[in-house]
Amino acid sequence: MSELNGKVIVVTGGASGIGREASLQLSAKGATIVVADFNEEGAKKVVSEIEAQGGTAAAYKVDVSNGDEIKALIDFTAEKFGTFSGIFNNAGIGLVKPFLEMDPASYHRVIDVDQHSVYYGMYYGAKKMVELGVKGTIVNTASIYGTIAAVGSFNYNAAKAAVVMMSKSGALELAEHGIRVVGVAPGFINTPILGEDEAAKKFLAEQHMRGELIEPEKVASAVTFLFTDAASAINGTTLPVDDGFLS
Ligand code: NAI
Repeated sequence: MSELNGKVIVVTGGASGIGREASLQLSAKGATIVVADFNEEGAKKVVSEIEAQGGTAAAYKVDVSNGDEIKALIDFTAEKFGTFSGIFNNAGIGLVKPFLEMDPASYHRVIDVDQHSVYYGMYYGAKKMVELGVKGTIVNTASIYGTIAAVGSFNYNAAKAAVVMMSKSGALELAEHGIRVVGVAPGFINTPILGEDEAAKKFLAEQHMRGELIEPEKVASAVTFLFTDAASAINGTTLPVDDGFLS
């Protein structure tokens, strides 16, 4: 029997990159997936890929910076598939600017999309699990930049550091309900978020011990493991998937 049979998992940012790969791998282990993304067409494509590999999934258009939309996403999931077992709070953006150009709109946008979204997913997700009596799992995408500062990333550094601490704090409070919360801290992952500048990508790749960008499948396989019972003793921490960058 597949390890995640019967589980119903929401993946935000599921249309692309890490979220797309996680959707496919979680499905391959038996989970039903709600692929939630601002990019509805992309989410529908991932649903088709899941169906082509024999899985079950639904696409859902959401702006993760909006708490009401996240609540509606979780209600939709539980109603459509009869339960709700977990959420991968993964959607995110970068908006790089020198600090003296980090105007309030640029600061708040990244905090809203990368940080507040994780609170909404944890809050409405955990409330739904408690309501349903489900002992579930929440995985949050942080970053190596939640631990170390990067030039031009004041907003992103702040948001991702918050995700690291929200994973700890949430785990502490939700353990009594049988809900686990874990973070992942990717290094430099070969997804569209890195942009098109090949020289910049080469520089980032060289920061890893093996000198290569990390493929999103590698983050997805760690995330998929964290959703399984084999990871039941991993709680509150944030797991680097960074080819030694933070070491
Ligand atoms: P990606 O750009 O391939 O995927 C991000 C997805 O999030 C896209 O499908 C996008 O439509 C969606 N999204 C963005 N804003 C949204 C919103 N407001 N509401 C709903 N969906 C929204 O990027 P990637 O790399 O897969 O990023 C996933 C997560 O990994 C992000 O949280 C990112 O910060 C994090 N991360 C990525 C790293 C990298 O090097 N690629 C490194 C460390 C962390």
